[in-house]
Amino acid sequence: MDFSLTEEHMMIRDAARDFAKTELLPGVLERDEKQEFPQELVKKMGELGFMGIMVDPKYGGSGMDATSYVLIMEELSKIDASASVIVSVNNSLVCYGLEAFGTEEQKQKYLTKLATGEFVGAFCLSEPEAGSDATSQRTTAEDKGDHYIINGTKNWITSGGRADVYLVIAQTDKDKGHRGINAFIVEKGTEGFDVGPKEDKLGIRGSDTHTLQFNNVKVPKENRIGEDGFGFKFAMKTLSGGRIGIASQALGIAAGAYELALKYSKERQAFGTEICNHQAIAFKLADMATEIEAARHLVMKAAWDKDQGNNYDQSSAMAKLYASKVAMDTTVEAVQIHGGNGFVKEYHVERLMRDAKITQIYEGTSEIQKIVISRNVLKD
Ligand code: CAA
Repeated sequence: MDFSLTEEHMMIRDAARDFAKTELLPGVLERDEKQEFPQELVKKMGELGFMGIMVDPKYGGSGMDATSYVLIMEELSKIDASASVIVSVNNSLVCYGLEAFGTEEQKQKYLTKLATGEFVGAFCLSEPEAGSDATSQRTTAEDKGDHYIINGTKNWITSGGRADVYLVIAQTDKDKGHRGINAFIVEKGTEGFDVGPKEDKLGIRGSDTHTLQFNNVKVPKENRIGEDGFGFKFAMKTLSGGRIGIASQALGIAAGAYELALKYSKERQAFGTEICNHQAIAFKLADMATEIEAARHLVMKAAWDKDQGNNYDQSSAMAKLYASKVAMDTTVEAVQIHGGNGFVKEYHVERLMRDAKITQIYEGTSEIQKIVISRNVLKD
């Protein structure tokens, strides 16, 4: 078994690390404070190939593997989890969803622009009364022959106010349960499609989260993804990959907080020595380093499963469940190691602690990951 990264993987990781330090870091506190979307930085990430990492170059993507994707996600998330969630949703929910299940026309029309960062994508599954219970979609898509009419509300949509292309999950035939659900491509500016106010969030404040309203929105039939009734499976298959993205985001948040705490502990003096020389701090650092390494192995295993063509429902859920817990625990300890300074914005760890929480909630709460894992382990 070989745990080493290839030359190419190391180059990609270093490019993401450089970009995060030189481009994301300078404005990250201000974007968090003002809830400002990193519009120009998204463009730059597109130019670097970060918006379509795994997409085939024939559709404008970088043609890299899932291992490269998680390496990039980890580095971006060490510095700015708001930027990395935009990358994650665009890559693993929107681009992947279209590349794996879209028609050639859909790929030419939308994927080519999403993969280069010219367009930003959003994934619209959650509703006011259908978050974890995703089969209970209230948004309807009425079949009118050559088009559908969509009515309903979507909640907590990442990049909701900034996206150009929205993948919208809606119920076409309630009697058929999850087999009556479809997924549609809806373009920004379509009549009857309105973006509600921006959410004022605890963390990932630089990302743009909105409620969306659909009032008699007409969507041509060619914008349905897959066969009639494929929408729920489309969402589940897509979310399995999305969970690899969020697991690597959680890993990056944890690793970023750990690196800051380690550095601080070597500089800060108390009781006549650097605080890292006190076992109370050194043992915290040992726990953090161990848990981060364990999370990294789970994240890499899930990415490897995807690259090998193995089923990754279980490994992605395990990676997300564990890495998000490590993100929460590590950031709390990083604040503790910083003492009073940890509570002050300029030291960054309080922001990372606020950002960590969402990784236990979106793309399936920790409890949802346990449902997925337990169903998998019990089925044999
Ligand atoms: N791949 C393929 N098919 C799958 C699947 C998968 N990974 N998971 C389930 N299915 C299929 C099942 O086989 C079943 O099909 P059949 O009846 O034909 O066998 C069908 O889907 C229904 O499955 P379940 O009976 O397991 O469905 P359930 O109602 O029990 O729900 C669940 C399962 C795992 C709880 C699911 O509802 C779920 O994942 N919920 C969480 C939703 C979620 O993650 N939301 C996040 C929103 S997106 C987001 O956060 C993006 C963002 O902006 C950051």
